[in-house]
Amino acid sequence: MLKAGDTPLQKITDSILKQHGVNLWVKREDMIHPLMSGNKWRKLKYNLEAAKQKCQTILTFGGAFSNHIYATAAAGKEEGIKTIGVIRGDKPQPLNSTLQFAQDCGMQLHFISRSQYRDKNLVQNIKALKKQFGDFYLVSEGGSNSLALKGCAEIIKDIDINFDYLCTSCGTGGTLAGLLVGLTGKKRALGFSALKGFTNLEKNIDQLTFEYNQTKYHNYQVIHDYHFGGYAKFTQDLVDFMKKFQLQNEILLDPIYTGKMFLGIYDLISNGFFPQNSTVVALHTGGLQGIEGMIKYRGFPRI
Ligand SMILES: Cc1ncc(COP(=O)(O)O)c(C=O)c1O
Repeated sequence: MLKAGDTPLQKITDSILKQHGVNLWVKREDMIHPLMSGNKWRKLKYNLEAAKQKCQTILTFGGAFSNHIYATAAAGKEEGIKTIGVIRGDKPQPLNSTLQFAQDCGMQLHFISRSQYRDKNLVQNIKALKKQFGDFYLVSEGGSNSLALKGCAEIIKDIDINFDYLCTSCGTGGTLAGLLVGLTGKKRALGFSALKGFTNLEKNIDQLTFEYNQTKYHNYQVIHDYHFGGYAKFTQDLVDFMKKFQLQNEILLDPIYTGKMFLGIYDLISNGFFPQNSTVVALHTGGLQGIEGMIKYRGFPRI
């Protein structure tokens, strides 16, 4: 079984919180493992067990800077499981730091075109991959499947304070879906989409929870207003916010997911979204390995 570190709850102090009567805590899931970001560790936990019982090889999908690819490669190395990463787009020359790390962990990288990637889940394409690589345990893009929900649901019992709202960043929505399972319809969950115009996100979340336990939850809301231009895009406001947040709280954020979510939470607080005396817990889902790629390839400033 994968080993986990402690993930403390850190209280944030800021005049804006005082002014609006909101208590904000950060669940430091980024501290769960040095190489597997919080939500990735949670998603992989039961998938690794299943892979070990099935065929000792995991095949999964991701983009060239994917936190999921990085974490799966690290998990495979730690657990002695062979990993294959099917990567969207041409092979970069040289490999970027995410892919180089994955390869150094022993992950076999296989590059496919963007159009092939769109069709990656078609039965005939999975069959073709099995023909090429032999039998494997398939983990979907972003690691979001029923066993991932089971792992993410366990975050709830690790939050040992009473709270009203639980916030997480969303890509595929798997993490939020798992939190909803753990919350069993109680309290409110907010997901902050890192993608622009991902209108199917709620549908994805409902589908994932339905597949897991035939339940659709209504105690959540996805907020689509804080993508800052879309996946891996950023604005100067985001940079300034992250700088200030890091300085005040000594918590490093990533520009793709957690930076955007925290700016969103602060903005909602300023707009009076949370009632007085609300307690809000925000998950720090990690993703810090992606910072170097953002600096090198997207011009994100080193903070
Ligand atoms: C750091 C980080 N936070 C949040 C997410 C969103 O997770 P999900 O795809 O489960 O919505 C991801 C997904 O890749 C991530 O890497």
